[in-house]
Amino acid sequence: MDAEIDSILISRERIAARVAEMGGQIASAYGDRDPCLTLVAILSGAVIFLADLIRHIPQEMKLALIAVSSYPGTSVASRGPKIVRDIEEDLAGRHVLVVDDILDTGNTLRLVQEAIREHGPTSLRTAVLLRKRDKAPPEVTVDFVGFDIEDVFVVGYGLDYDNLYRNYPHIATLRVAAPAIASRRS
Ligand code: IMP
Ligand code: MG
Repeated sequence: MDAEIDSILISRERIAARVAEMGGQIASAYGDRDPCLTLVAILSGAVIFLADLIRHIPQEMKLALIAVSSYPGTSVASRGPKIVRDIEEDLAGRHVLVVDDILDTGNTLRLVQEAIREHGPTSLRTAVLLRKRDKAPPEVTVDFVGFDIEDVFVVGYGLDYDNLYRNYPHIATLRVAAPAIASRRS
């Protein structure tokens, strides 16, 4: 796996420190009283971030999962994201925090936020580990951001290329040319 890694952009130590900090920020944003909190994680990229983040949030919470597919099969052009596994938890009256790995074009988060609003949550906030600084559209609101990065394709800490590298502990770029990767990502 290491042979295909180009360079480490964010080390596991920096990730761990920032995730702990984000957990603290999220915990203070919801306050001490029973927040009726439900975290909705977007599969599969958010799982590692979710697992680390929630252990820095002491409040009682429920977890819900949603899966979205953006690049079906080996298609090159995105046909737009589609929900392939819907949320099974009841979100009405809950404070909902969406957790995702990365905000890129914002299409995935826009779709998920709209779907959640239909459940009638009390509030809706979003946390992402990474945001591609120059691409993220202003109308897709995120409340907690780990790191702003350049528009480069990254893997590791849950982020994949062709469903690989999710277990790589750092956030890194690959040796393969970026456009070739971007057209094949899932
Ligand atoms: P969107 O373009 O904001 O809809 O991003 C949708 C999804 O594409 C993210 O949740 C990731 O799963 C994936 N994605 C976007 N950029 C990258 C990247 O640099 N590496 C790996 N996956 C990415
Ligand atoms: Mg994802």
